[in-house]
Amino acid sequence: MAHSSDSYNLLSAEAFANPYPIYGRMRSETPVYWYERFEAWVLTRYDDVKTMLDHLEMLVVSPVSFPEDVPTEQQAKQQKIAEFLGRWVIYQNPPRQTVLRQLLSQGFKAITIRDLRPRIQAIADELLDELTANGEEMDVIWDFSFPFAVTVIAEILGVPSSDRYLFKAWALKLRDANIGYIDDPELIDEIDQIIDAAKSYLSVLVAERRQNLGGDLTSGLVRVQEDGRMLEDEELLSNLLLLLFGGQETTMHMIGNGLLALLKHPDQCQMLKENPGLIEIAVEEFLRYESPGPLAMRITGTDLTLGGQVMCAGQKVFGMVGAANRDPAHFPEPDRLDITRQPNRHLAFGHGVHFCLGAALARLEGQIVFPTLLRRLPQLRLGTEDLDWCRSIAIRGTTTLPVVFKLKGY
Ligand code: HEM
Repeated sequence: MAHSSDSYNLLSAEAFANPYPIYGRMRSETPVYWYERFEAWVLTRYDDVKTMLDHLEMLVVSPVSFPEDVPTEQQAKQQKIAEFLGRWVIYQNPPRQTVLRQLLSQGFKAITIRDLRPRIQAIADELLDELTANGEEMDVIWDFSFPFAVTVIAEILGVPSSDRYLFKAWALKLRDANIGYIDDPELIDEIDQIIDAAKSYLSVLVAERRQNLGGDLTSGLVRVQEDGRMLEDEELLSNLLLLLFGGQETTMHMIGNGLLALLKHPDQCQMLKENPGLIEIAVEEFLRYESPGPLAMRITGTDLTLGGQVMCAGQKVFGMVGAANRDPAHFPEPDRLDITRQPNRHLAFGHGVHFCLGAALARLEGQIVFPTLLRRLPQLRLGTEDLDWCRSIAIRGTTTLPVVFKLKGY
């Protein structure tokens, strides 16, 4: 039976609020589906998404593209943006990706993620001190999760977290730059300016570290560069920006989605409160249940067959990580939140050569934040049932998450 994109409309308000029924239908009816509107194959089975992530002929490519017929000045800006973002490890393929990833991982060795626990705990506590002193309600996304995620990564990189509102502006615009085709000259101008601003900000940071190496990630990367290991200046700056920005939105939604899941499942919330030792398994379940980055994109490097479907070289493939993580062939009762679920080999951090470089950090952040929120805000409840989900198939999270944490008169 043929299915049109409309029968699987992933861009409707209902689908943004709850894409899982559509993923489920696609998985059982047409698991490898040519989605006309995206001009891409859409994969919804776990095995196919994992095969895609592991496949060496499934190439990454920067999603940003621009119109060709534009004045020279705009052409130059477009080229600059494409080149700068194109240096991100996430948009590089082996063999360069292999080298670049090794260099970045080497830089990460400057910090031991486990040793960050006390500082991450302090960052969460300081934010909650401020929020509880100033009221009885908050928006978990923008009042807590965003400043938390930015402050943590800023500290790790060794940049002042007081600049976090600057990073927020950059992050929001760079998100626009990563959605695909951009033809709005104003947006191109803004992104161009942000890249200039970010480059000069990060150049100063790198120059300072060259004078005075420390124990932060930037120093680790400067050391890698000084050891003559072929990390070019532009590549260093570009990937510093990726690290600064890459994990913010996903971490922010991991916190929002996990907390929302707990508030909607009081039995699971109670179990976690009574058994804090479950937290590591629980965080994996939050990541599976509502994966913050539910889509991985690839381009076929050659003609190939995946999930029984012949694909031609140069075609786009969307691996729906969010659908894979609800595949009943791998997760019994996949739509049930079960904070004791084991095994839980979800794909929320990807798989294969591009597996998330920040996974250990994000996991630790989750393992600290959820128990802290439950301990410090025992009366936490949802401020509204009317939640607005991001209108994107690549980001899964609510745009805000209002909660009340003290009952009036309590
Ligand atoms: C809950 C939070 C996070 C989630 C769900 C997440 C998810 C992902 C996923 C799915 C990928 C693979 C994308 C693909 O294969 O196309 C990825 C790659 C990556 N992530 Fe994360 N991420 C998170 C946090 C972070 C953090 C905190 C950082 C930075 C410290 C980070 C840095 C990266 C980098 C650099 C890559 C590219 C690795 C490569 O291409 O070799 N992520 N992430």
